[in-house]
Amino acid sequence: MSQVRLDMLISKALNVSRKDAKGLIAKGRIAIDKEIIKRPDAKVDDGCEISFDSKSFFYQKFLYILQNKPLGIISSTDGYDGKTVLDILPEQLKRNGLFPAGRLDKYSCGMMIITDDGKFAHSMLSPSCHVEKEYYVKTAEDVISEKMAEEFSKGVYLGEGQYSSPAQMRIIDSRCAYITIHEGIYHQVRRMIKAMGGTVIALKRVRIGDLALDENLKEGESRLLTENEKEALLKRKI
Ligand code: URA
Repeated sequence: MSQVRLDMLISKALNVSRKDAKGLIAKGRIAIDKEIIKRPDAKVDDGCEISFDSKSFFYQKFLYILQNKPLGIISSTDGYDGKTVLDILPEQLKRNGLFPAGRLDKYSCGMMIITDDGKFAHSMLSPSCHVEKEYYVKTAEDVISEKMAEEFSKGVYLGEGQYSSPAQMRIIDSRCAYITIHEGIYHQVRRMIKAMGGTVIALKRVRIGDLALDENLKEGESRLLTENEKEALLKRKI
């Protein structure tokens, strides 16, 4: 069972210093499972309800968040170039230490995973884990064809000495398709299409591993993943 000290938890959850967290605890403003606790070193178990004045939340060691990223938002922790995927999280999911597990470029939308569990993110992102990513893509020209699908299935030269590994394409029509890739090379899908003479005008990530983007999650919305969804993300495809 994972446990954490109350003052550390309060400092992280409320984004205050450890000293201020101790102050709030000493003043009797914090309760664990509805009982006011004044000891900063009290241990909190995973799943305990923490109350702060009239607000409450359930302690979880790590958060695993699914977000439907809108266009124009950057998938980084650093917002020098605009709003980030962390900025648009609802207040109850915001806390220190969260980061996006993987990138999705500013002009792409769709499925993002945000967590504070470094090991989990590593298993999702590590090339040796082969976690698939599927994208819906739309091009400006009528370039999507069986020929392109065949080229993608062999791997594509992306320029600058880089090749993609084989990718799968499900054709919708001559401008739209679903493309599944197995690694996360910078701007990979855009570069694969460009290598075939096309221009991507819309790109949306619709699946990671065995987990599809929840269609009920509107653009800009985020929610916690269920246990089953976490497992689906980590299923290996060799
Ligand atoms: N491919 C791209 O071109 N951009 C992304 O964000 C992800 C894959």
